[in-house]
Amino acid sequence: MKKGKVYLIGAGPGDPGLLTTKAREILARADVIVYDRLIARQILRGLPKRIVKVYVGKRSGNHSIPGQDAIPRILVTNAEKGRLVVRLKGGDPFLFGRGGEEVQKLREAGVDFEVVPGITSALAVPAYAGIPVTHRKYASSVAIVTGHEDPSKSKRVDWKKLATAVDTIIILMGIHNLQAILQSLVEGGCNAETPVAIVERGTTKHQRVTVGTVRTMTVQAVERRIEPPAIIVVGDVVNLQKELSWFKS
Ligand SMILES: C[S@@+](CC[C@H](N)C(=O)[O-])C[C@H]1O[C@@H](n2cnc3c(N)ncnc32)[C@H](O)[C@@H]1O
Repeated sequence: MKKGKVYLIGAGPGDPGLLTTKAREILARADVIVYDRLIARQILRGLPKRIVKVYVGKRSGNHSIPGQDAIPRILVTNAEKGRLVVRLKGGDPFLFGRGGEEVQKLREAGVDFEVVPGITSALAVPAYAGIPVTHRKYASSVAIVTGHEDPSKSKRVDWKKLATAVDTIIILMGIHNLQAILQSLVEGGCNAETPVAIVERGTTKHQRVTVGTVRTMTVQAVERRIEPPAIIVVGDVVNLQKELSWFKS
C-alpha cells in the first residue's frame, strides 16, 4: 500500500497571496486537508473538489468538535490509509499553533511528516499596518509573546521582566487580558506613554488599526470594541505607523 504522509503547513495570516509556493503546490496534491478557523476561505475554495476538507477549528467557548486530542488521531488514521494529509494552520504552524505537539504525536505514531513554515501574523500583521518591528533608530530587539496562557502551565510570561528587556513587544491572543498585561508592563518599568498599536484582522479587507499608548489603550479598546484576532504591538516603532501606513483594506 502507498505510504501516507502528513504535511504541517502554515497558511499565512489572512491575505491568501501570502501562502508560500511550496504550500500551494502540496495543497493541490492533497487527499485530505485538516484546517483551522483562521484560514482564508479563498485558499480552500480554489482547490480541487476531490479533496476532503475537515474543519477542526473552534470558536472561543465552543469545544464541541473535534477536541485538540482528536486532531492527531484524524491525521494518523488518514496517513495510515496511505493518504497525503495536510494539516493547515494559520500563520506559522510552530508559533503558538500547537504544531510542536501535533508533530510529536505523529512521530510517536511513526507517521512520516514534513513542516512547511508559513508567514506568521506576528510579523506580517504589523507590516501591513505600517509598523516595522525593528528599526536601526528605534528598536534592536523584539519579543513575541502570548497574552493567553493556560493557567496550569509551568512556564509563564514574566511581563514585569519583559517590560524593559526588549524594544518591541508583540502580543498575540492578548485582547481579553489587555488591561492586566499593560498594567504589568507599567509595574515592570515600562513608561506609560510608550506607544501601542492594536491591529485587528490584519492583512485582510477588514484590517483595522488603533494607535494609543500603554496608558490609554485599555479605554480605547473598549470604546472601539476591539476584538480578536488581533496583534498588540508595544514600542517606539509604533510611532512610524502614521508615516509608513500603506495597506488599503
Ligand atoms: C493561536 S494564535 C496562532 C498564531 C499563528 N500560528 C501565527 O503564526 O500567526 C492566534 C492569534 O494570532 C493572531 N492573529 C492571527 N491572524 C491574525 C490576523 N490576521 N490579524 C491579527 N491577528 C492575528 C491573533 O493574536 C490570534 O489570536
